[in-house]
Amino acid sequence: MKKFLLTMVLVLSLVVFANIKIGVVLPMTGGIAAFGEMSWQGIELAHEMYPEVLGQKIDLVLVDNRSEKTEAANAVSRVIDKDKVVAIIGEVASAHSLAGGAVAERKHIPMLTSSSTNPLVTTGKKYVSRVCFIDPYQGAAAAIFAFDNLKAKKAAVFIDVEQDYSVGLANFFKKKFKELGGNYFIEFFKTGDQEFSAQLTDALNKNPDVLYITGYYPEISLFARQARMLGYNGPILAGDGAEAEELIKIGGDAVEGLYYTTHFHPDGAATEMTKVFVEKFIEKFGTKPGAMHALGFDAYLVMRKAIEMAGKADPKAIAKAIREVKNFPGATGMITINKNGDAEKSVVVDMVKNGEFTYVTTVNPAEK
Ligand code: PHE
Repeated sequence: MKKFLLTMVLVLSLVVFANIKIGVVLPMTGGIAAFGEMSWQGIELAHEMYPEVLGQKIDLVLVDNRSEKTEAANAVSRVIDKDKVVAIIGEVASAHSLAGGAVAERKHIPMLTSSSTNPLVTTGKKYVSRVCFIDPYQGAAAAIFAFDNLKAKKAAVFIDVEQDYSVGLANFFKKKFKELGGNYFIEFFKTGDQEFSAQLTDALNKNPDVLYITGYYPEISLFARQARMLGYNGPILAGDGAEAEELIKIGGDAVEGLYYTTHFHPDGAATEMTKVFVEKFIEKFGTKPGAMHALGFDAYLVMRKAIEMAGKADPKAIAKAIREVKNFPGATGMITINKNGDAEKSVVVDMVKNGEFTYVTTVNPAEK
């Protein structure tokens, strides 16, 4: 009897006091490892500040997708099947969230991406949502900035054919730029390419007023270097995929003056939470936070909020609650997640100035 009672107490306490497990799937190694590292720092900080929900501890299970599409899907399967998580934060690159998101959707586990901006990531899904804006906004904001602020009439648009993010962003830019009265032409490249002189020579012969490079920092930094080497002195514009310290390390002088659209800058924001976040981040890491850190931080907070709203650690209830989050004060601004699972936010423009990411302006494409 005594033994039975003891067992019952043990089982009960496990049920009542079990930790809530959340999977975190990020590119911690490989091509875009800098993005994984930054997201993780933001998530870690948020977890340290708010380690519990519903009176239970939150456990984070971090899995690396190695910056690869197949691993992106495998990692999601693994945290669901092996680690038995009730929800997932991740992934970063849109192509990875598309691959991983398909698995989460099939297995009915909510997945919240901090930074995947391609619209298809959430399209037709109930379980995949995001705390960031989508690329129709980002592309339009870039087009407005190029046309109005840079006074560009002709744009050379560079597309990474291996990245859904790049292909989408380029398309949304083109559409808006044309609508505004500009014209453009396109050039292609692939993730991992190091040599862009063929595309650049062809592009520069057409005398563009701006180079719009949609892709990630490893290729953008090399593009900038080679463009300057070929004598191009005009403006270079990129998307959120540019923002990693590596851009400046690899790009050096060539990325000085480069503009990019993004989600957050400590000098451009926003809520009470922004102040707290920036302060705590500097305290913990000794450097100022960037967009990717802030988005990771917000993804954790929104996930935690949704679990609280759901009132239980039930995947289906959490998935539903995520899309009911309204006017939540995050580090990147007020976060409202719409019924499609997308956040509606304005777009920040930054530039590289004296080797630092510097705030330029905030664009709200919905108003234009
Ligand atoms: N928006 C990019 C994508 O969807 C990822 C990204 C977000 C990269 C923010 C850097 C900063 O692939």
